[in-house]
Amino acid sequence: MSDTVIDGVDYGPLACLLGAWKGDSGMDVAPEPGDTEDNPYYETITFEAAGDVTNAEEQILSVVRYHQEVRRKSNDKVFHDQVGYWLWDSVTGAIIQTLTIPRAVTLLAGGTATVTEDRTVFEVQARDGDPDWEIVQSPFMREKARTLEFRHQLTVKGDRMRYTETTVLDIYGDHHFDHTDQNTLQRQ
Ligand code: HEM
Repeated sequence: MSDTVIDGVDYGPLACLLGAWKGDSGMDVAPEPGDTEDNPYYETITFEAAGDVTNAEEQILSVVRYHQEVRRKSNDKVFHDQVGYWLWDSVTGAIIQTLTIPRAVTLLAGGTATVTEDRTVFEVQARDGDPDWEIVQSPFMREKARTLEFRHQLTVKGDRMRYTETTVLDIYGDHHFDHTDQNTLQRQ
């Protein structure tokens, strides 16, 4: 049996995500009216094996559930909380990340996992209005702080994880604001 199989479910490339991770060198660049704010942060991300699902008696997706909790270094308060799933289709190789944040924004990002000898690189993206990988947001957010695009690259090498993500926003009159986040984490 492969070491990517847990309780009879093969998690394939997602298996390397499993566990609790901590990182304290995060940097967030976020919008504020007429300016940007740079927020150094630390965080915990937990990834759990959540079995598999069968869709239309045809498609089987392996499921990893995650929770990301991010705290500002300046005051130790949680300033970003995110939940979602990473999904893998063993037949097509497709990778999907679903995410929800409590600003009333949720999305479905699609992409790939590239597995080489020493690392796995996940790359997914979503775009407002994309027929496949869509962003859903409340009427308020659509009008005032619209998310146009989301791009995420996450690399796992042994017990080290690094990610960079770009969320393109239309906010405060800036029609293309790159809201970026990056961090390096260690598996606990
Ligand atoms: C580590 C990840 C992230 C951190 C630390 C973070 C942090 C922030 C911060 C500090 C702001 C400025 C407003 C405020 O002070 O609350 C902000 C705004 C925003 N973020 Fe994020 N964010 C992250 C990821 C995301 C993601 C993944 C999305 C959506 C896909 C997102 C969507 C937004 C939106 C729509 C706003 C504009 C709301 C506003 O400023 O009024 N963020 N974020």
